[in-house]
Amino acid sequence: MTISLTNHLAPGEATAALRADALTGLTAMPKSLPPRWFYDERGSVLFDEITRLPEYYPTRAERAILAARAGEIAAASRAEVLVELGSGTSEKTRLLLTALRDAGTLTRFVPCDVDPSVLRAAGESITAEYPGVEVEAVVGDFTMHLGELPRAGRRMVAFLGSTIGNLEPQLRAAFLAEVAATLEPGDSFLLGTDLVKDAGRLVRAYDDSAGVTAEFNRNVLSVLNRELGARFDPSSFEHVAVWDPSEEWIEMRLRSRVEQTVHVAGLGLDVPFAAGEEMRTEVSAKFRQERVEEELAAAGLTSTHWWTDPAGDFGVSLSVP
Ligand code: AVJ
Repeated sequence: MTISLTNHLAPGEATAALRADALTGLTAMPKSLPPRWFYDERGSVLFDEITRLPEYYPTRAERAILAARAGEIAAASRAEVLVELGSGTSEKTRLLLTALRDAGTLTRFVPCDVDPSVLRAAGESITAEYPGVEVEAVVGDFTMHLGELPRAGRRMVAFLGSTIGNLEPQLRAAFLAEVAATLEPGDSFLLGTDLVKDAGRLVRAYDDSAGVTAEFNRNVLSVLNRELGARFDPSSFEHVAVWDPSEEWIEMRLRSRVEQTVHVAGLGLDVPFAAGEEMRTEVSAKFRQERVEEELAAAGLTSTHWWTDPAGDFGVSLSVP
């Protein structure tokens, strides 16, 4: 069987969205860029490298939960269709695919990601590993295209890796409401959430000693250079990761090492940076069980299961409409 890859981003739509985001973010005070633009082909590769760093515990903790609980998740969801939002390499998802296949319910896998290169590679290897499971990959932004995802069959929508932490509370509420709106009785929602913990460990997870996260952060500047004809010198920006204890999120920033003006040809814009000026490139919110359950409830979802790894670093919840 071959995979089908549907592109829900019309040609030029991604670039138009990048232009709009860059124009807004680079002229704002303070400056910011949405984390979605990290993930070109190189960004996906760097993120995959991050997931194997000794300091970056979330991927290992979530994998341990899925390894221990995949059978329970399969039995509770009885899903025929597994939809994965922000699927990336779908590495941990194989634990769910195997459990659902062994339970005899799985017919279809729908991975959804903004990066077509990572989707194609993941889709092809999963097609080879799970004969008889139809793979229907969807290129799209999980915040925009939920209504367009295939509907037939009992579905479990999985949103793993704590990617939901990239959304600030208001956007998160809107996103969860949209997930709830697309779910029908019998469907379910599997959500991975990184949990609040010691600030030192959190900061180290986002500022690793090998400098991979710094490269990943600066990669957004290379994306702007390529896509918008910008003239950023990535080495003139320093990677910064800080824990905000009142918001309970990690912020990644790029700090200009010098005073400089960066030309962005595609926007007809000259962007001034003061020496030491910081531009926010990501928030990664951390959660507590009660807050996850409250936010799910506010969206109309009832949490039926909550699992953590033995150390309590990461939480996975299953909820139903
Ligand atoms: C893919 C959004 C879950 O926030 O931990 C990793 C991205 N950024 N290191 C995260 C990320 C820096 C990651 N998510």
